[in-house]
Amino acid sequence: MSKKIFSGVQPTGNLHLGNYLGAIKNFVELNNEKENNCIFCVVDLHAITVKQDKDQLKKNIYETAATFIASGIDPYKSIIFNQSKVSAHTEFSWILSCMTPMGWLNRMTQFKEKAGKDKEKASIGLYIYPILMASDILLYDATHVPVGDDQKQHLELTRDIAQKFNKDFNCEDFLKVPEPLIKTNFSRIMSLKDGQKKMSKSDPSNLSRINLTDSKDAIINKIKKAKTDSFPIPDEEQKLKDRPEAKNLLGIYSSVSNQTLGKTLNEFDGKNFSDLKSRLAEILSDKISPISNEIKKLMDDHKYIEDILLEGANKADEIAEKKMKEIKNIIGF
Ligand code: ADP
Ligand code: TRP
Repeated sequence: MSKKIFSGVQPTGNLHLGNYLGAIKNFVELNNEKENNCIFCVVDLHAITVKQDKDQLKKNIYETAATFIASGIDPYKSIIFNQSKVSAHTEFSWILSCMTPMGWLNRMTQFKEKAGKDKEKASIGLYIYPILMASDILLYDATHVPVGDDQKQHLELTRDIAQKFNKDFNCEDFLKVPEPLIKTNFSRIMSLKDGQKKMSKSDPSNLSRINLTDSKDAIINKIKKAKTDSFPIPDEEQKLKDRPEAKNLLGIYSSVSNQTLGKTLNEFDGKNFSDLKSRLAEILSDKISPISNEIKKLMDDHKYIEDILLEGANKADEIAEKKMKEIKNIIGF
């Protein structure tokens, strides 16, 4: 069955292995299924919910688009564009803001994490960012949204907002209620320095993550320094229960080699972490180095990326504007 796919990645720099295994790798698989219609968005309006430097933001927008292409998304099959080029996203977001109860937003755990202790100082944009995300998805009648595990709650909110809109305006089925596509295994890649924290762009320690632009030597070094524990690699999954760092490395190995955790445990049963680490560094650099080289090549050709983004924005705008007209009509504008 053909699916309408929509997903977004923020151009906030340091795209890492978590973004790749949790999201971008799935984007590529969905792009490769012939019957799917996919839209992959560089969500620059989401990025400005925290302060950004102008030149850095511009570079990050290009780099995120380059990463999509370098990872294997075909820009002639899927639409790639940046969010700020299609004004319907902000327009629809206002409309949805007017019908979303504050209580629903107050439940969002990511806001609490990102706003930190001083909530009063966080921007309103950061608070209502899940509504902008709902607009992104609902404007394109997306049926499926591939994301990492941390976005699950935002997708549930999107579903609630779609259902409320349809009910409030008596227009059953007008906004499509999307299904999340979250891999059940390894959908949350953890920091290499702390197995309780997710691998993140904003972690001050560069050793906590594998960046998609890392060289082979950097990857080998980071895996060598990754935290482990002092027990041998077990033969069963259950025995990893209280060993987050070990579980994370074995999970990364499994995900990159497209095999189950059980199979990885069989492969390394009785061996020690230095064996796992040297194999992991090898398969990771085999996977990441070609992507990293391609990103560098594409970043030398801004014109190519600009053309892709422009063409993508034109196609996206056409779809979004059509939906926006229907939305305005339903509301009474
Ligand atoms: P973040 O700042 O959280 O990395 P992004 O917008 O860049 O936010 O995230 C892009 C995609 O990568 C999202 O689908 C998100 O769920 C996924 N992602 C981010 N971090 C991880 C992680 N550590 N493990 C798995 N998926 C992740
Ligand atoms: N909020 C998502 C994140 O931080 C990014 C995002 C914005 C998104 N709009 C989206 C993801 C629409 C999926 C669909 O990772």
